[in-house]
Amino acid sequence: MQLLVWESRFNLGIKTFDNHHKRLVEIINNSYRAVQHNSTHRIIILLDELFDYAMYHFFAEEQLMRTHSDPALKDHSREHEEFLFHISAFKKSMTSKEPLYKVPVVVFLKEWFISHVLVVDREYVRLFDNKSKT
Ligand SMILES: [Fe+2]
Repeated sequence: MQLLVWESRFNLGIKTFDNHHKRLVEIINNSYRAVQHNSTHRIIILLDELFDYAMYHFFAEEQLMRTHSDPALKDHSREHEEFLFHISAFKKSMTSKEPLYKVPVVVFLKEWFISHVLVVDREYVRLFDNKSKT
């Protein structure tokens, strides 16, 4: 069973970013699978993968906003930084003496994704005209 199922409401209509978001959903679901198998080793690998891919994707989003001198950039990039900080903290916790419960960790990843894409990311869609949504 997947933790996070792709829904049409997640589509921003910008092909590159929609593909990035689909990849993030995939990594979050793989993390959930690792949680179900209680594989700490695999969870750490996937948190690393999520961190790297999120960083790549956030950079692309922020580049777009920078190009358009979008005033929302500062707040948006703060959200990105906070997410990366959480992933690092989760990863650290997995190898600590008292690790966080794994299920709430992946539920956090899922909920962050949904609220970020539906609310925060939706704001930069206006930067694209209809011809450049690639
Ligand atoms: Fe974003």
